Amino acid sequence: MKSSEIKSKFISFFESKGHKAMLGSSLVPKDPTVLLTLAGMLQFKPVFLGQEKPPYRRVTTVQKCIRMVDVERVGKTPRHHTFFEMLGNFSFGDYFKKEAVQFAWELLTREFKLPVTRLKIAVFEKDDEAYDIWRKDIGLPAEIIFRLDEENNFWSAGPTGPCGPCSEIYYDLGEEFGCGKGDCGPGCDCDRFLEIWNLVFIQYNRDESGQLLPLKQKGIDTGMGLERIASVLQGKSDNFETDLFVPLIRKIMAISTAGESDPSARIIADHARAVTHLIADGVFPDNTGRGYVLRRLIRRAVRHGKMIGIKGPFLVDLSSTVIAQMEEAYPALREKSALIAATLKEEEDNFMATLDNGMKLFGELQEAHKADKKITGEEAFRLHDTFGFPIDLTIELADESGMKVD
Ligand code: GLY
Repeated sequence: MKSSEIKSKFISFFESKGHKAMLGSSLVPKDPTVLLTLAGMLQFKPVFLGQEKPPYRRVTTVQKCIRMVDVERVGKTPRHHTFFEMLGNFSFGDYFKKEAVQFAWELLTREFKLPVTRLKIAVFEKDDEAYDIWRKDIGLPAEIIFRLDEENNFWSAGPTGPCGPCSEIYYDLGEEFGCGKGDCGPGCDCDRFLEIWNLVFIQYNRDESGQLLPLKQKGIDTGMGLERIASVLQGKSDNFETDLFVPLIRKIMAISTAGESDPSARIIADHARAVTHLIADGVFPDNTGRGYVLRRLIRRAVRHGKMIGIKGPFLVDLSSTVIAQMEEAYPALREKSALIAATLKEEEDNFMATLDNGMKLFGELQEAHKADKKITGEEAFRLHDTFGFPIDLTIELADESGMKVD
C-alpha cells in the first residue's frame, strides 16, 4: 500500500466514524512551550485544556512533525527520524478509552489487515481500565498485553500541559530482529518491537510544579507514525526502504559512494525532508531557536555528504525531490520552492566554504588532545565562529572520537 493510500485510508476510516478531517498545522507552533510541532495534538492543546471550544468533537489529521530528541539515532536505527508525519484521531470530551481502542484495533486488523499474531499491546501499569478493555472488550490473551511504567506509557507533549496514560500498539518484526535478552518485549530498545500507534488518554493538566490536575473534559489523542506503518504495510523492516524514502536514497546513491543502507545517506534523506518543510513554514537559518535547528540540520547533512564523497552542493536538488513527492499533500512546498532553493543554496555554500578547513582544525585538535580528550571552550568557539560548526556538530564529532567538549 502506497504511503499516500495509507494516509487517505486512515482519514476516511475516521471520517466513517464521525470525525472531521482537519488540516495539520505548521511546524512552527502557536504554543510557546515548544520550539517545533512535535505531535498532532499540539494545535489542540487549548481545546484539551478547556481554554478553547472544540472545532468538532471528533477530529482526524495528518500532522507533519519534527522531533530533535532523536536526531542522533537517525540513520543508525531503521525507525527514527527528525521529520515524520503523524496520523491522528482526537476526541474532545466525546469518546474515551474504549472507543479509541476499538477504532484502532478495527483499522489495523480489518482495514490494514495486519495479522493479529504480530501485534502486541502496552498499557500504563496502573491503568486497569485500559488493560481490561484490551483483555475483555477486544478479547486479547493476557500474554500479549504488557504493563509498562510511566516513562513508556504516560504521555505528554512537554513538561506542562495536557497529558495522560497511554496504550501503545507494537508490531513484532520477529525474533531475528531482537536483542535476544530474556526481558526483550514491547518498550525494549532493540528493533524487534516496532511501536506503530500510541493512544493517549488525555485526562490531566500538568502544572508548573509538576502536579497532575484532572481535566474537566477527558479526551483522546492518538499518533501513528506514517513512516512506521508504511514499513509494515509495504513488507519492509526498515522505514528507509519505504516509498517515502526510496526516491531520495536513490538520488543520494547516484551522486555518492554510499550503498543503500549507509547511515550518512539516510541522515541526508531525513534531513532533506526536515529542512525543506522548515523553510516552507517560514524558518530561516540562524544561531538561535528554530533557525538554529534548521542550520544544524543543513550543516549536519552537508558534513555527511562530504563523508560519502558527494562533490559540490546537493541539498537544493534533494529538496526538489521532496517537493515533487509531497506537494500534493503540502501545496506550500511548491509555492515556496524558490525560497527553499535560495535559502538552502546560501547556507550550503557558506558552510562548504569553511567545512574543509574546520575539519582540518578539528583533526589538529584531536592530535593535540590525545591525552586529555577534551576540546576547550575557546577551541569549540573558534570552530563555531571561524568555521561555522554549530556547537552540537562539534560535540557530535568529539563524541565520535571519544572526546568531550568543555
Ligand atoms: N501524541 C501522541 C504521541 O505523540 O505519541
